[in-house]
Amino acid sequence: MQNDDFQLLSHIRYFCRNKILTLYHLISQTTIQQILSRIDIIEIVGSFIKLKKRGTNYLGLCPFHNEKSPSFTVSPAKEIYKCFGCGRSGNTIGFLMEHEKYSYVEALRWLAQKYNVEIEETEVTPEQKLQQLSADSLYIINSFGQKFFTDYLFNTEEGQDIGLSYLKERGFREEIIRKFQIGYNPEARDTFARAAIDAQYNLELLQKTGLVAVRDERPVDNYRGRIIFPVHNQSGKVLGFGARILKKNDRAPKYINTPENEIYVKSKILYGSYFARMAIDKADECLLVEGYTDVVSLHQAGIENVVASGGTSLTPDQLRLVKKYTNNLTIIYDGDSAGIKAALRGLDLALEESLNVKLVLIPDKEDPDSYVNKVGPAAFTEFIAANKKDFILFQLGVMLEDAGTDTTKKSAVVNQVAETISKINKAEDFTKQQDYIRQSAALLKIEETGLHALVNKYIREKITKEESRTARDEAANSFQPPAQPFEVEDEVASLFNKDEQHERAMVRSLIEFGLKPWENDQRVADHVFEEIEINQLEELFDNKHLIDLVKIFKTWYDEGLEPTQKNFLYHEDLALSKLVNDVMDYTHEISHNWKEFFEGKILTREDLYKEEVFSTLNYLKLRKIKRMMDENQRDLEKATSSEEQLVLLQTHQHLKQVEIDLTKKLGTVIFK
Ligand code: UTP
Ligand code: MN
Repeated sequence: MQNDDFQLLSHIRYFCRNKILTLYHLISQTTIQQILSRIDIIEIVGSFIKLKKRGTNYLGLCPFHNEKSPSFTVSPAKEIYKCFGCGRSGNTIGFLMEHEKYSYVEALRWLAQKYNVEIEETEVTPEQKLQQLSADSLYIINSFGQKFFTDYLFNTEEGQDIGLSYLKERGFREEIIRKFQIGYNPEARDTFARAAIDAQYNLELLQKTGLVAVRDERPVDNYRGRIIFPVHNQSGKVLGFGARILKKNDRAPKYINTPENEIYVKSKILYGSYFARMAIDKADECLLVEGYTDVVSLHQAGIENVVASGGTSLTPDQLRLVKKYTNNLTIIYDGDSAGIKAALRGLDLALEESLNVKLVLIPDKEDPDSYVNKVGPAAFTEFIAANKKDFILFQLGVMLEDAGTDTTKKSAVVNQVAETISKINKAEDFTKQQDYIRQSAALLKIEETGLHALVNKYIREKITKEESRTARDEAANSFQPPAQPFEVEDEVASLFNKDEQHERAMVRSLIEFGLKPWENDQRVADHVFEEIEINQLEELFDNKHLIDLVKIFKTWYDEGLEPTQKNFLYHEDLALSKLVNDVMDYTHEISHNWKEFFEGKILTREDLYKEEVFSTLNYLKLRKIKRMMDENQRDLEKATSSEEQLVLLQTHQHLKQVEIDLTKKLGTVIFK
């Protein structure tokens, strides 16, 4: 065995146990085909986002950026999605990878399970294993940790005597503890750390998950003697943990949470969302509480449409998560919570998003967990329904109370309220806005028309700000360097780059029409590869990624595979599949002369594919000639000897003739 191999293998062993390695065998091509043939993009994407049918496509709010009106489009015919807001696009597998942070293989496994396809596996190379492992290792370790802690809670003496008895004393029943996969980390210094290291988990990664720390050069458990609440993502995988101390201790924090890492991004997480999403959808309302225990207790009481923010103000990402399921957000906090003010802070944003925000305060120093335990589910639900306050009016009440009789403070409140109301500014929210102005003016004891004018002033200010921002952005954009197709901004920039559009058009006609007949037994692909030198693509294409696409197509084609768009769409290399997706996106189509010419006859691109192949090929050639002529011209200007000048002039004439011929040829096809 070579030294390199050996290092790699020991590295892998260090990474993971054998058992997990076997999970990472490659899925066979037949299985993949079976899975692909069953994919229904609407069903899959629709299980994460609310989609509405619009014509042949489906439309929803983009899960990848913050938006108010839907621009996320899913095309069942093309089996792709595309957001016209942020530019993200891809196929079903790409969606799962991006949305659920799955690896390619994980996404396939997920689909296989969904569609009941039995997975046939083949061996993979150590490199592939290593790559997949490092991508997924945090999830794997978290899952290992979760199982360890749950097992410890239920099946050891310490777990039962200390952890379980504490939870039971607080009123949590076994079924709910199991549902939320709650666990216990023993008190000894390194019980978990040793188990994890024995199981071959990498110490660095263990530290990254926050489960293990290193003290005095020894690994120790970070959550010693704590109850462990796993935090799940939308599909039930463990992102991280909240670890609650059992005994009162002024020096130690009550909860220790997972440090930010690749998968635990606090600002995007709402605790409980995995268990709540169906119920939120059904109730068309999301209840927001502060803590882990509030979520679990309410669930146990049968109130399942509830998530927790962890006691901080809501972030835009969290609001977006809520908005995926409902427009109605009800915040339930304890009356004297320091969290209320923090929660209120983020909420102007909710108004801009057209969320209806209500607020309920739990009385008597209780929190939702203790209150539901005290009064029972029915009374709790009644209390919430009866005490929902409108968020804006509530905030106004709090501010007015603070201001008291101080007139300066009071006018600050007026301004604040006007600004808040100005955020409700969508056409469909107009009545709502008018209602708020009326009610607030009454509370403030001021003229309604005055408040009206103030609100309008804030709206105008905001528009002016946005306009100058757009202008600034545009100015900045026009100086940006040309395209690199993978990034969204670059995609926009590439719209201004005509040359690239021609390159894309060529690649598109190859992928779309490559297998169609050309002439005399030849197919389009044969013709194209006859016309262009595969080793000199750099002369025709500026975009290296497009060259790659052409080369891949050729390799596949030469191997006897019949490459179509689908082969690319489901390519393992996400960047590649994205590029194909962009290239095949007809909204950026350049308008060919023939298109205008044939208008009225309703001929489709399909009818005219030969012309399209012909013209895209020749446009590229023409461009190449033009460039050569420019270059020649520059040389001519620099030429010193008359011999040199003569040669260059002859070259020019020759090139000019080729250009004329090409243009003519293009013309005859175009106008035949
Ligand atoms: P609370 O102090 O209200 O705790 O903090 P809790 O959830 O009600 O827990 P119990 O009922 O006392 O057991 C609310 C939330 O704030 C975050 C946690 O997410 C907690 O659930 N928090 C609180 C921390 O992250 N760290 C802390 O030290 C305290
Ligand atoms: Mn509590």
